[in-house]
This record gives sequence, structure tokens and C-alpha cells, in this order.
Amino acid sequence: MSGIEIEGLRPLDGELKVQGSKNAALPMMAAAVLHRGTTVLKNVPRIRDVFCMIDILTAMGCECSLEGHRLAIDAKTVSRVAVPREYVSSMRSSIVLLGAFLGRAGEAVTCYPGGCSIGSRPIDLHLRGLERLGVRIREREDGRIAASAARLTGARVHFPYPSVGATENVILAAVRACGTTVIAGAAREPEIVSLCRMLNGMGARISGIGEDTIVVEGVGELHDSEYTAPGDRIVTGTYLSCVMAAGGRAYLRGTEPEPLRGVLRVLRRMGAGIETAPAGIRIRMKGRPRPVRIRTAPYPGFPTDLQSPMLSLLAVSDGCGQVCETVFEGRFATADQLRRLGARIDIDGNRAKVEGVYPLRGARVEAPDLRGGAALAVAGLAAEGRTEIGGCGHILRGYEDICGDLKALGARIRQLPEDGGGADGDGGDAGGQLSAGGRLRRVRGSDGRRMSG
Ligand code: UD1
Repeated sequence: MSGIEIEGLRPLDGELKVQGSKNAALPMMAAAVLHRGTTVLKNVPRIRDVFCMIDILTAMGCECSLEGHRLAIDAKTVSRVAVPREYVSSMRSSIVLLGAFLGRAGEAVTCYPGGCSIGSRPIDLHLRGLERLGVRIREREDGRIAASAARLTGARVHFPYPSVGATENVILAAVRACGTTVIAGAAREPEIVSLCRMLNGMGARISGIGEDTIVVEGVGELHDSEYTAPGDRIVTGTYLSCVMAAGGRAYLRGTEPEPLRGVLRVLRRMGAGIETAPAGIRIRMKGRPRPVRIRTAPYPGFPTDLQSPMLSLLAVSDGCGQVCETVFEGRFATADQLRRLGARIDIDGNRAKVEGVYPLRGARVEAPDLRGGAALAVAGLAAEGRTEIGGCGHILRGYEDICGDLKALGARIRQLPEDGGGADGDGGDAGGQLSAGGRLRRVRGSDGRRMSG
């Protein structure tokens, strides 16, 4: 899929099951290498980042089989500890393999994740945290990072900022370390809770789950296990935003409202009628969204991954709203594209002032990154005429079937035919799984279905 075409100004009405969470599934897949046996993950989304992680694990000696949304990872044999360079540049979250392979083999080799379309993403906190556990980090002449530990030893780690990836990396390394690790200033995102619960199901001993101090008592062996990934809270937030932009109603199944509690509060303030069930959210929207001021922050604050969809909603609100981005400084690339649709957005540093306009007017736009691409679909639903979104390789990294899902809600949306993959090449590393030659690779699931990868 190189592009998406949307005809806006059509109210939505429908129901869908939300896909499994990308940000939960990826570290869980990394966690599987800690065990010399089989780990089964259910509700795994069929998205590019997952296919890429399967390729990496396979290249490193694991046997992976994806059938539907059930992924079995057999990590009995691991034949290498170096993450192939091309994967690190195409998927930054492969950095969690550092902690996982240290925990498994006492060594790991990777490289600095490449440049980024949503601001700089250093890994200093990951490296400093791992060093506390006795890991020696060395930058090799070829630019790769070699990490090794004669013996991983539990220690006290204090994060000055609650980095999600750094917290995951230290947890993964600490699970099989000698002694107890205390992680203070840990990230509290729901995906970390899922990772810890999964690890405990494998035989790990982790407490303080969901709190800012996590305690990991190292264990010798883990065992075979099965775990179901939760529904994706960011995809849920995106689709709720779609209903708010287009008007109408929807029921989203397979997603827990609790991790979205703060977001739902904001959406209600903007005028949405929202009812929750234990694993579903019903939304109803009439008229234009009311403007709000939001500030992104680590969990339980407003998620930075929903900042772009929020920008789209504010762009059609009936007043002036504001967004303050505190997590990734460069995350306003979507604003340029929204302006092409007629949005009035002023950016000043990490703040965006948005004056609502309704309707927007359809135009050709380019997905700047994963969440920004999805945000353009939100805007397209509130635009008169046709909106064509190019560069949809970004969206495929995290959304299994955005067109099918929005169609199920009654949107007029269609995939534009592939044009040889050229449109996926923009945006460098954030564009997802490109081969070294820049062409889209194809991977085949064990169920034989061809998947864009
Ligand atoms: C994860 C999510 C991403 C989400 C982000 C914040 C995955 C695969 N990705 O990314 O979707 O947007 O959390 O909720 O789960 N930082 C440092 N040094 C470090 C690490 C991070 O300065 O060593 C800074 C980053 O530059 C950024 C902030 O901390 O400004 C947050 O980053 P972090 O929480 O690590 O996000 P990710 O784990 O990369």
C-alpha cells in the first residue's frame, strides 16, 4: 500500500476489534530469548515492526512461527548475539534486544539507532542502566556497540527520566542476573506492566509492577509459557479520534479503557459521549470537537503517541486549542501536512496553537511518521472532498489494517495500489522495513500468507 484515499464528511457508525499492542508485543518478543524453550504470544498484531522483529530473531537463531495472531518463538538455539545493522536502522525499538541478549548470553552487539523523524532519541539511559548491572559497554571501531558482562549482577538503578525503552532493557537484563535489581524512576507505561506480567508467567520474580520502583529478583531458569498481548491503546485512541473528527458512533472491542483513562477524560471534555466496558469502549460524537489544551507526558500523562491525532482534532475544533509536547521535541511534522488541508497551526518551540477550521479541504499529503500518518487519516475524515495520503509505509509499521478498520466503521476509504514501494522510502529510518537497497522486502508468515514487510 503506497497511499490511502479518503472521502471525508461522512459520519461513522460501526464496530471493530482493536489489534494487539505493538509497543507491548515488541519487548515481549525480545523477552522470549531469555528462555531456552518456547514462548507463545497471542493477539500479536500483523504489522511491519512485528515482521521485522521476527526477521531479527530468526537471523539470530530463533525459530518463529506466526499463525494468524499467534506467534510461537522457540529460542532453544541462539546462534549469534549481534543484531544485524540494517534492522537497527529500520526499527529503533530493536534496542530492547540489548538487555534480552545480555540476559540470555551475557553479551550483545548492536549499533546506535539512526536519525529520527520525531526528534533525537538517545540511548544513554539504556547504557548507563545496564552498566549498573556490571555490563561493560564498548564502542567498536565499526561504530557498533558491544556490551558484555562476565556476570550480570543485581544493583540499584536510578533513571533521572522514566524512559520506556531503558526501563524495559534493564528489566530484561535483570531477570536472569545474580541478586536483586531495584529500578527507581522506572517508566509506568501499561506496556511495561504487560512485559513484567509476561516475564512473571515465564518464572521471573518482579514486583512493584506499574509503580515507579520496580524490583527484579534474578532467577536461574525460566519455563515455557503463553501470554496474550493487550489491545493497542494508541490504535484505540486513533480510532476514537476518527469518530470525533467525522461524527457518528462506534464500538471498539478488545481494548481496555483503564490505560486510556486520562485520554478519555480529554475526549469527553471535547464533547464525546463515552461509555466503557471491561474490554471495550463505546463512543458517540455530534458536532465539532471543543478545543482543549493538552500537554504530553510519560504515563499516566497524555501519551505523546496520540499528540498528532489530537492536533488533527484541534484543527477542526470550534475554537483555539493548544498542545505542548514534552516527550519528543520534534514531533510536530504533522502540522505542515495538516496546513495543506487548510488547518491553522502555529508552532513555537514545543508548543502548537491551533485555531479550528471546519471543514478542512481534501488535498494530497505525505505521512511524516507512524502516528503522524494516522493523524492525517483522522483529518481526512473531516475534510471536504478527497484526501490522498502518501508514504503509508509509515502507517503499516503500527496499524494492521487501517483502511479495513475505518471501512468497518463506515468510512469511505481505499488503499491506492502500490507504486513499487517508492513512497515508503521517505523519512529515512522511521519508514519501516526497507531492505538495504531501499526496496520493500516481503516476508512470508508461517501460515503462508504474503505480508508486506
Ligand atoms: C516508547 C514507545 C514510543 C513512545 C515512547 C514514549 C515503543 C516501541 N516505543 O519509545 O511509541 O512514543 O515510548 O511514550 O515502546 N531518552 C533519553 N535517553 C535515553 C532514552 C530516552 O534522553 O536513553 C529520552 C528520549 O529522547 C525522549 C524521552 O526520553 O525524549 C522518551 O523516550 P522513551 O521513553 O525512551 O521512548 P521509547 O522507549 O524510545
